[in-house]
Amino acid sequence: MTVLFADVVHSMDIAATVGPERLREIMAGLVDRAAAVVKRYGGTLDKFTGDGIMALFGAPVALEDHAVRACLAALGVQEEAKRLAVDVQERDGVDLQLRVGLNSGQVIAGEIGSGPLGYTAVGEQVGIAQRMESVAPPGGVMLSTSTARLVEGAATLGEVERVRIKDTDHPARAQRLLGVPEGRHAARRAESNLVGRRWEMAAVEGVLGRAIDGHGAVVTVVGSPGIGKSRLVREVAALAAGRGVEVFSAYCESHTSDIPFHVVARLLRADTGVRGLDGPAARDRVRSRVPDADPEDLLLFDDLLGIADPEVELPKINPDARRRRLTALVNAASLARQVPAVYVIEDAHWIDEVSESMLAEFFAVIPQTPSLVLVTYRPEYQGALSWVSGAQTIALAPLSDSETAALVCELLGSDPSVGALGQKIAERAAGNPFFAEEMVRDLAERGVFRGNRSAYEVTADVGEVGVPATLQATIAARIDRLDPAAKRTLSAAAVIGSRFSRELLETLGIDPVLESLVGGEFIDQIRFTGDPEYVFHHPLIRTVAYEAQLKSDRAELHRRVAAAIESHDPAAAEENAALMAEHLEAAGDGHAAYGWHMRAATWATNRDITAARLSWERAQTIADTLPAEDPDRAAMRIAPRTMLCGIGWRVHVNVAGARFDELRELCTAAGDKASLAIAMAALVMETVFQDRIREASQLASEAMALIESIGDPTLTVGLCFAPIHAKVHSSEWSDVLRVSQKVIDLAAGDPSKGNFIFGSPLAVALMSRAIGRYCLGRPGWRDDLRHGLLMGRSADPLSYARVVTYGYFAGILYGVLRPDDGAVGEIEGALRIAERSSDDIALALARMTLGAALVHRHTETERDQGHKLLSEVSGVFLRQGHNLPEVPIVDACAARQRARRGDRDEAIPLIRAAADHLFCEGLLQIWGVPATGVLVETLLDRGDDSDVAEAEAAIERLAAAPADEGLVIREIWLLRLRALLARAHGDGAAYAHLRDRYRDMATSLGFEGHIAWAEAMP
Ligand SMILES: Nc1ncnc2c1ncn2[C@@H]1O[C@H](COP(=O)(O)OP(=O)(O)OP(=O)(O)O)[C@@H](O)[C@H]1O
Ligand SMILES: [Mg+2]
Repeated sequence: MTVLFADVVHSMDIAATVGPERLREIMAGLVDRAAAVVKRYGGTLDKFTGDGIMALFGAPVALEDHAVRACLAALGVQEEAKRLAVDVQERDGVDLQLRVGLNSGQVIAGEIGSGPLGYTAVGEQVGIAQRMESVAPPGGVMLSTSTARLVEGAATLGEVERVRIKDTDHPARAQRLLGVPEGRHAARRAESNLVGRRWEMAAVEGVLGRAIDGHGAVVTVVGSPGIGKSRLVREVAALAAGRGVEVFSAYCESHTSDIPFHVVARLLRADTGVRGLDGPAARDRVRSRVPDADPEDLLLFDDLLGIADPEVELPKINPDARRRRLTALVNAASLARQVPAVYVIEDAHWIDEVSESMLAEFFAVIPQTPSLVLVTYRPEYQGALSWVSGAQTIALAPLSDSETAALVCELLGSDPSVGALGQKIAERAAGNPFFAEEMVRDLAERGVFRGNRSAYEVTADVGEVGVPATLQATIAARIDRLDPAAKRTLSAAAVIGSRFSRELLETLGIDPVLESLVGGEFIDQIRFTGDPEYVFHHPLIRTVAYEAQLKSDRAELHRRVAAAIESHDPAAAEENAALMAEHLEAAGDGHAAYGWHMRAATWATNRDITAARLSWERAQTIADTLPAEDPDRAAMRIAPRTMLCGIGWRVHVNVAGARFDELRELCTAAGDKASLAIAMAALVMETVFQDRIREASQLASEAMALIESIGDPTLTVGLCFAPIHAKVHSSEWSDVLRVSQKVIDLAAGDPSKGNFIFGSPLAVALMSRAIGRYCLGRPGWRDDLRHGLLMGRSADPLSYARVVTYGYFAGILYGVLRPDDGAVGEIEGALRIAERSSDDIALALARMTLGAALVHRHTETERDQGHKLLSEVSGVFLRQGHNLPEVPIVDACAARQRARRGDRDEAIPLIRAAADHLFCEGLLQIWGVPATGVLVETLLDRGDDSDVAEAEAAIERLAAAPADEGLVIREIWLLRLRALLARAHGDGAAYAHLRDRYRDMATSLGFEGHIAWAEAMP
């Protein structure tokens, strides 16, 4: 039993300041909070002593680990007191502090009984606890020697102190409780001394010192299994802890390597200190850590940590954006961090892809922070964390012969009888310390060694003692010798993971036998309170235990683990979907695993598109391996393929060719038109992106026919953006009008109907109808623009960027709108939203539109800015391979500004090439009209004879390009360009006539850009 005694420092003084009434109130608050803590750790609040608190652990209910629980409670009570003290300081101006003392001792059961505990029943033990309390520093916890001995392995303790106790002459021994690390090695038993590794330690210590001074670093430790990577990291962590630096660790595990965010989330949970807190408390903690963060970013962060409020909807942003915002948030937080920290990522060879790439980004700012990052991995790993730029790598070689001998000697002791066998072990171990340790354990279990660790004697004839050939074989032999119940426990644990709890084992129908496993150093206990938790002593033990079991047994266990996860936390089903899928797949339950992979993908679509892709791919693999007679096989093969195709254009993956053809075959065979339509829409986008406009237009017609034949309104609204986009590019305006109208009718005013790819298909359709209307000289375009922009403003960034591009980029280039202050202001607003979202495509569209507006402004500064933006955007399009049909017009607009700056001879070939390209498919591409305008104007500005001739040819090419009837937009441009040409020819009468007709037409159509241009013509 352990007694906890807590008392307020200088309570008399506080009473004098605040009065007895208020003191009682403060005390009541304190007792309430303390009671909750004590209860959490399984203790009983025994007595309210007036200005102090007493609690018992281990009585009346026997708790084996009462001392550890009491320590945890003591720390918890201090934390609560500190929190309360902030209020009290603010209100009353007094300093509230607590001292806590602990003492453990035997209590005879009968003395306590089951009724309310009497103070006297445990008199002597309480007395010692009280004395410990009296010598504790304010805010601190003091342990008696008896308690200290019980928690040695689990808690961090100060030096042994000799303290003077009130009213006695005898000094007593006591130790301060500094902390109870929660983590894998909390209960680690005494390890053998570190052998060798001198320079490695010195190197890391040097780096740690620099990190503490503010020059952080990443250090990777690589080496084969059992060579000592984790050990080195533990030594460094101890070193850091000794210097007061906090250490946060995350472990990757083999069976979670396909679970996105797994490691990142764990590390951040540790770093933010939310582990063990409930939802609201955890969210408060996060907010206090990053007080200035954007509220929307914080929602994303909550979601990553798994502490999101289920009532609050997540911001709808695309996965790239989500990842970048999170990275920015975490990086900002670590840059703001003043206090040095060590982050450990163990076993990176098992890291999941998403965590890997996020961590790689987090590492970028480490040099500017007071942090040291340690990453361990085995040599086969070659992922992003193994080549972080600026990282130092420590490759652990086997220990030398003399070091191995020293280690073996340390393990065996120096009895003369062990010498020969020791040598054999050292030779076989070949410098691998874990192998040496396991061989010693094996021989001890076999009874070859007698006695205790570090003091063995050999009982057998050395010549006859065999040692297993490999580390794995040694472990397997040891597992084999376990009694059946322990073996079964170990097998089940291996299926669960490297960390597992007693309760979960029981849920699996196992009657856990853990003591002998702990004793045999197969596993270690790491949590002593509540549901006890354990970890495998070493990852290899888990691997061997996992592989040693019968496949069918293992499958059954996986199935049960999955069931346990599902029933344990139904609310977190989506979040655990990937883990569920893993277990069910390992259980051989393809159907169920498939379902969870699909759910995991849907969950990830808005979080990380790479993760979603991975899950769809896994689902696809499962579906493909189903037996041919499975009735669901066809549908199951189609669904993941459909989504993989559907998102292709957003993640720069090409679907045309084999991928698409295969899906089409499957859909045709199954009569699944909807899936085919989704894939076809993506194919249309891809074809437009790749600048194959004629082909895209034909595909768009096919896709439209397919969509219409299905006749599903939501599907139609959600998918028509693609055929519309193709038809916009081929200037087939009547088609644009017809399909846009269809979307507008079916959406019936609902901005988010069919929002599975764009947040607001309706807003986008309003804008495309606007363009179609003004191009064909139909009324209503102005209202469309207004409505579409309005709706776009409250939609997702990608929709808004698309709306702004359709509205202003096309509007300004076509001369329908003027790049006035209002327009530029709105585009800048959209750009800010896109920047914050960092959605690749949205960002590029918004920058392109701003660039186009700026090169049409009045001041040179603005035009130069526009030029710069456009040049950058064009580079982005080419590099990322999207929006390729926009490249020529972007280049032409940029070159136009160069020409204005006097660089005509350089600019004209560029503009010419751009314009030529836009007519090369033998149809009138959307940007062919303004590109011709730019070319003609620039040529006429230079004005050589050949320039004028070329301008004339360009005008005629525009006039002759096949296009829809009644293409008013072309007519007005032709008037303008022909007027300019007439002036260049010196034909004043023709010029005046054309100019006046141009003016009239601009005015009657209400095309503001043209009105301004016409007025400016002399
Ligand atoms: N230099 C050393 N001196 C003494 N003991 C060591 C030394 N290096 C490692 N050990 C011991 O050997 C065992 C295995 O080491 P460790 O767990 O660090 O291996 P590892 O490289 O992390 O292997 P894995 O890749 O499987 O994780 C541990 O018990 C550790 O304490
Ligand atoms: Mg290790």
